[in-house]
Amino acid sequence: LRRFVVIGQTALGSPRFSLDDLPGSSGRLDVLLRALQSALLVSHGLRRDTVAYLALHGEAGARRALRFDGRAAEYLRPDERSLGGRVKNALAWEESSATAFSVERQGVAVALGGLDAIVSDLGPMTPFVLEEGGSDARAAKLDAEDAVFFVGDHLGFDAITRTRLHDLGAEPISVGPVSVHADQAIVLVHNELDRRALTPRGLAR
Ligand SMILES: C[S@@+](CC[C@H](N)C(=O)[O-])C[C@H]1O[C@@H](n2cnc3c(N)ncnc32)[C@H](O)[C@@H]1O
Repeated sequence: LRRFVVIGQTALGSPRFSLDDLPGSSGRLDVLLRALQSALLVSHGLRRDTVAYLALHGEAGARRALRFDGRAAEYLRPDERSLGGRVKNALAWEESSATAFSVERQGVAVALGGLDAIVSDLGPMTPFVLEEGGSDARAAKLDAEDAVFFVGDHLGFDAITRTRLHDLGAEPISVGPVSVHADQAIVLVHNELDRRALTPRGLAR
């Protein structure tokens, strides 16, 4: 299983944003939606071996967490607007005020509490934090069965989150010398894992 956690520092934890102006009205949820798209969607399909979490930290008293499970997801369309609609709907569910992911509908679940709710849901894990300047991802044990990859948003990670990830024991890994967008960093991790999975069938690394 591949698990990604994308942490949005400014993304709002409420459904009061407009799908007509995602970047301007949602605290840059669009950055997280592109990350979600890269984590779960491939050409003509879904990555059934992947779970993507979004931490919405834009409102201090109302942090929320979303979980999209590729094993169960249905009707996920690749465009940002439609994914934004799924997020907006989930944030309006009654269960979005529960502190655990109590209900899953078509592979989507929501909880109050941001990163804390996600860490509780993840349980035991081998955590990696995607960081410019981390050690080379190609030398890391990315294919550990319980690997979790933490990814920042357009602002990177705030100091408290950075400390939290450090305390979890997350290993900083870099996907290359260029600072790329969160969605691009996710694609690079998937690609590295895809290549490793294919190695026995003869794909050179
Ligand atoms: C747009 S970058 C963050 C921008 C930059 N850190 C800043 O402070 O403005 C979004 C996220 O993608 C990931 N990322 C980007 N480039 C990376 C790289 N070369 N290696 C590993 N992760 C990277 C990191 O998790 C980063 O927080």
